Amino acid sequence: MVEVQDQQDIGVFRPPAPRPRSPLISLLRVIREGEGNLLALVPESAYGQPVGRLGYSRRDILVVNEPELARRVLTNEDGLFPKNDLMVSALDPLVGNSMFVSDGEIWRRQRSMIDPALSVMRVNRAFASMSAAIDDYEKRLDHAAATGKSVSLDQAMSHLTADIICRSVFTTSLESDMARTIFDDFKTFERSVAQVELMRLIFSPAFKAVPQNQAVLDACKRIRTHLGQMVDTHLEGDGFNDIASQLIAARSEQGVPFTRTELIDQLGVFFLAGHETTASVLTWVLFILGTRPDIAARVRAEVLEVAGDGPITINQVQKLRYVRNVFRETLRLYPPITFLPRVAMQKTRLGKLTARRGAMIMVSPWIIHRHRKYWQDPELFDPDRFLPDREAEQTTGAYLPFGVGPRVCAGAGFAQVEGALSIARLVRRFDFTVEHPEAVQPVARLTTRPSRQISAKVSFAST
Ligand code: HEM
Repeated sequence: MVEVQDQQDIGVFRPPAPRPRSPLISLLRVIREGEGNLLALVPESAYGQPVGRLGYSRRDILVVNEPELARRVLTNEDGLFPKNDLMVSALDPLVGNSMFVSDGEIWRRQRSMIDPALSVMRVNRAFASMSAAIDDYEKRLDHAAATGKSVSLDQAMSHLTADIICRSVFTTSLESDMARTIFDDFKTFERSVAQVELMRLIFSPAFKAVPQNQAVLDACKRIRTHLGQMVDTHLEGDGFNDIASQLIAARSEQGVPFTRTELIDQLGVFFLAGHETTASVLTWVLFILGTRPDIAARVRAEVLEVAGDGPITINQVQKLRYVRNVFRETLRLYPPITFLPRVAMQKTRLGKLTARRGAMIMVSPWIIHRHRKYWQDPELFDPDRFLPDREAEQTTGAYLPFGVGPRVCAGAGFAQVEGALSIARLVRRFDFTVEHPEAVQPVARLTTRPSRQISAKVSFAST
């Protein structure tokens, strides 16, 4: 509490982040806490170097911060840095060889068939589903506000974004039993995978497959069965106009559609990549606004000025500049995908360091966004740093919440509209007051999450 309050008094805000230590202390902390929190492994020095080693793991791990080098790794033009083997094997039971993990020609074919399903036109259509999911969630929050109950911000945002993705992909709301089960199983998957992966990262050599634990495999099987049933409903019926129906209609250059298994793989990715990510950033936005009423008031004033108190259209969302900058700045300080892991396929020079074959190469939006050399006062929350007249302060390539190059997030347009609309609607209607903000710390599991649930009182906005 002390830090948050003090910073408020002097008009700047330093949201919580783990205090980085020396490499050895960081490692000991991770092993002791055993929580699958990769952020705790990042030493202080990583925030000032162009390229560094994350010491003390069995496997060589390099962190690449310098924007040009990071671009080289992520664009992977020379084929040296495919997606990391650990991540690929962890995701395999859930999403097979889908576009999130595939490479080369297979990935190119998949991406060209999927991109239209997330085009601007498609996002415009999904806008109605987003608005309907928010309508329903507002009703839940109305109840919390009327009864004075607290809500868990992360659970709330997880529910909202899962509902948005269900409705946009399958025209099914989260209230259906099947959607609910998928959602619960995804939670099991995410929790256990993150925990197992971190220990493998520290103790296993490169390219060594380790069997998944049974609870994860069971959850994946159930998710795939349910996704398969939803795919079948779409294959059998017509009249659907959603993302799933667009994927079913998609054809490769040779005129070949996705098989049923491929459809399940790809739709699994939409749930995996498109739900916890947006939930993560919205949780942090509400945490920040719930500790800084002055910022929330500025957001609300902008929304009322642009859209009044009626329905908000997609054109109005585009005009919410401050809302957009709050969203961007939160993505900078709490990028949902904390680390983008790749593997070096051969011995390679990266800046002043040499990566061995099998080294894990980490490009971390978290570290780059907080790097002392690329950002002014990196740890302060300052949405106005994205105003056009301050663009000169930014280092090219040092802002990458959606990744870089051909593997850049396929759903970035979707997420930006979803994020801005959710913030605008919820903050216009409610005040959120975070309880015990001093206890909130970010951790990196599959996404950047709070270490414990953030509880907030909800009340109807007074202005
Ligand atoms: C704020 C929300 C989101 C963030 C921060 C985010 C971030 C990212 C990042 C960093 C990547 C690249 C991963 C890498 O290079 O290893 C990625 C890939 C991807 N994202 Fe997102 N994402 C978000 C929302 C979404 C949504 C809503 C969808 C779908 C509806 C989506 C679908 C995908 C897909 C399919 C890929 C794989 C692209 C490829 O490899 O070609 N994402 N995302």
